[in-house]
Amino acid sequence: MAIEILPLTKEDIPSAVACIQKAFADDPYFHWVFNNKSGFNIHRNAASLAAHFLYGLSCNEPIFVAKYTTNTPRDKIPTDSPVVGVCWWYSPQPPSEPVPWSVWAQDWILSFRQLYNNIRFGGRGGLNVRRYWLWKARQQETHDRVWTDPRGYYFCNVIAVDSSMRGMGLGRKLVEVVSQQADREGMPCYLESSKGFPNLIIYEKLGFEMVSEIECVDGKDKCKLYCMIRQPKIKA
Ligand SMILES: CC(C)(COP(=O)(O)OP(=O)(O)OC[C@H]1O[C@@H](n2cnc3c(N)ncnc32)[C@H](O)[C@@H]1OP(=O)(O)O)[C@@H](O)C(=O)NCCC(=O)NCCS
Repeated sequence: MAIEILPLTKEDIPSAVACIQKAFADDPYFHWVFNNKSGFNIHRNAASLAAHFLYGLSCNEPIFVAKYTTNTPRDKIPTDSPVVGVCWWYSPQPPSEPVPWSVWAQDWILSFRQLYNNIRFGGRGGLNVRRYWLWKARQQETHDRVWTDPRGYYFCNVIAVDSSMRGMGLGRKLVEVVSQQADREGMPCYLESSKGFPNLIIYEKLGFEMVSEIECVDGKDKCKLYCMIRQPKIKA
């Protein structure tokens, strides 16, 4: 298969955004936080994801893509985009240490980009802002409870493989770029998934164990996220 795993570049961003949007179209958290279907603006959502990717690149976060090699003829690419998998991590940040000034500056740049997107698209593209902050609060409570390692965790923020390429080992390859680095450093990894089946089985095969659940309740609508930790295989 003419696919390689490489660090994300700026040029990959539109294709990586498309890959995530497609893979998360049936994601329970996505449906809970964008609950007003008629208000969903896919272009506003793409702009937001692109802003987050630029943030990740500027902060040197470990973000990897699975993509067709550049010499693959376009007509041999069965998907409509060269990126067929994305794995987007945040590096460990010890909670006792202040956020580096460079990350702090990028936080502000991201806020300004999102403000610009709000103006350009006339709003947040259907994001239920109240639910978003509700999730953020529950997530923070859970991290405070289960992130017991003072050195922090490699946080797998997003992983997506194109549906036509699943079950072929790409997800494992994408995760292992960072989980093997974590093993060498003796560091733990963490992820959250709102899709229980088959993701929990898949992540267990990749060395993760369930540690908690995050339940976000808004009236009659609930969203549950499964929190999993992977301890390092070889201690540093
Ligand atoms: C989760 C996801 C990234 C996995 O990617 P993938 O390329 O299909 O995974 P792999 O083929 O590398 O499989 C990894 C392991 O899980 C196993 N596996 C894959 N699909 C499985 C399934 N449906 N049931 C049981 N096991 C499965 C594989 O056999 C493999 O184990 P092994 O290496 O020990 O044989 C992919 O399913 C996906 O993009 N899902 C939609 C988006 C999503 O839910 N993202 C996660 C939100 S946190």
